[in-house]
Amino acid sequence: MTGRPPPWLDVDRLIDDRRTRIIVCCGSGGVGKTTIAAAIGLRAAEHGRHVVVLTVDPARRLAQSMGLTSLDNTPRPVRGIKTRDQEAGNGAEPAGSLHAMMLDMKRTFDEIVEAHADPDRAAQILANPFYQSLSSSFAGTQEYMAMEKLGQLRRADEWDLIVVDTPPSRSALDFLDAPQRLARFLDGKLLRLLTAPAKVGGRAYLRAINAGFGVVTGVLTKILGTQVLRDVQTFVSALDTMFGGFRERADYTYQLLRAPGTAFLVVAAPEEDALREASYFVERLDTERMPLAGLILNRVQQVPAAHLSAARSMAAAEVLQAAMSGNTGSGNAASGKTGADDQAAARRLTLTALQLHADRMTQAAAERRVAGGFTAAHPLVPVAEVPAQAEDVHDLEGLRRIGEWFGPR
Ligand SMILES: Nc1ncnc2c1ncn2[C@@H]1O[C@H](COP(=O)(O)OP(=O)(O)OP(=O)(O)O)[C@@H](O)[C@H]1O
Ligand SMILES: [Mg+2]
Repeated sequence: MTGRPPPWLDVDRLIDDRRTRIIVCCGSGGVGKTTIAAAIGLRAAEHGRHVVVLTVDPARRLAQSMGLTSLDNTPRPVRGIKTRDQEAGNGAEPAGSLHAMMLDMKRTFDEIVEAHADPDRAAQILANPFYQSLSSSFAGTQEYMAMEKLGQLRRADEWDLIVVDTPPSRSALDFLDAPQRLARFLDGKLLRLLTAPAKVGGRAYLRAINAGFGVVTGVLTKILGTQVLRDVQTFVSALDTMFGGFRERADYTYQLLRAPGTAFLVVAAPEEDALREASYFVERLDTERMPLAGLILNRVQQVPAAHLSAARSMAAAEVLQAAMSGNTGSGNAASGKTGADDQAAARRLTLTALQLHADRMTQAAAERRVAGGFTAAHPLVPVAEVPAQAEDVHDLEGLRRIGEWFGPR
C-alpha cells in the first residue's frame, strides 16, 4: 500500500515545549516502550528539562546504566547527562536533569495502605496473605500502580516533565482499562458481599440476600478453603476505611491523562500485530479525548544501497552462485591455489551480502506496506521512525543514538 506519507512526528518539538508535562509511552508487548521512554527522558534532560522517567521492568543492563540497581520505588539521579556545551568541551554544567525509577508494584501498593490506614490496621492488611497475593499478582495491579505513581509524581511537582513507560501487556489498552477494572474489583460488590455477613442486621431482605450469599460463601469456602476466605474477609473489612479511595484515585489519574500538557506516544514495531494494537489504541484515545502526539515506529529496517532492488540483488546472487558451482574442481594447480581460494572466499562473501541485502529489501518493503496500512486508516496521525539498531540498547550512548531520530525531518 503506498498512499500519502504521514505527517512527521517531531518529538523534539514536543519535549522542548515547556507546556508538555507528561509523556506516556504506550504500545503492545516488546515493541520498545521502555527504550523509547528512556531515550525521550535522556534527550529532554539534555535539552535542559528536569525529567523523571518512570520505567516498568527495564532490561537489567539498561537499568544499571541508568543507575537503577534496586527496586526501591524512588527516583534516582542518572549520571552522565551531557549538554551540547559539554560536548563542545567547555565544561558547563548541564542545565537539565534526569531521574529514573523502576516501578515497584508491591511497594507502591503498601505505601497506599500505610498512607490511608492507621498503623495497626496497616500492619494487619500488609500481613494478610490475600493482600500479599493481590498486591503482587492481580491482573491489572501493575497498570493501576503505574497510574498511581504517575499521580504521585505529578502531585510532588518536583519535575517539569514526567515520562511514563507502561507495563508489558499484550494489549496497549490494558494500561487504560486495568486500573478501572482493579478499582471496580476493590470497590466492588463481590468484595462488599464477602464482608456483608458480619455487618448486616436482622432485616428480612438482608437476610434473604445473606441466605443467597451463604450459598456462594459455602461454594467459595469449598474452593478456597476457610483460611483463604477468612483472609479475604479480614482484608476487605480492613480496607473498609479506604473504600471508594481506589476508584477515586484511578479517576483522578484518568483525568490527569486527559489534561492539557499530557501527550501520548504510541510505540509500535513495523509489524502487523503491533500496528493493529496501535490502531485500536489510537481509536480509543480519540474516544476518550486523550491527547495523542503520534506514533513511533520503532526498529525500522534500514537498508544501505536501497537503490539496488531485492529482485536485482537476488538475480546477481543467482548468477554468482551458478558461476561458483561451475568453478568447483578448477584452480587445483599448486601455484594458483591460494589465489583461487581467496577468490572463492570473496565470492562466498559477496553472495552472502547479496542475499542479505535482498532479505532486508524484502523486509523493508513489507514494513512499509504495514505502516502504509496504518497511515491509510489514520492519515492525520504523525509518525516518527527509529531504525533497528545493530544491537540491544543498553546504555546512555545507545539511548542517545535513538534520540537522534527525534528531530524534525
Ligand atoms: N530501535 C531498536 N533497535 C534495536 N533494539 C531495540 C530497539 N528498541 C528496542 N530494542 C531492544 O528490544 C528489546 C525490547 O525493548 P523494550 O524493553 O524497550 O520493549 P518494551 O516495549 O518495553 O517491552 P515490554 O512490553 O516487555 O515492557 C530490548 O532488548 C531493547 O534493547
Ligand atoms: Mg518495557
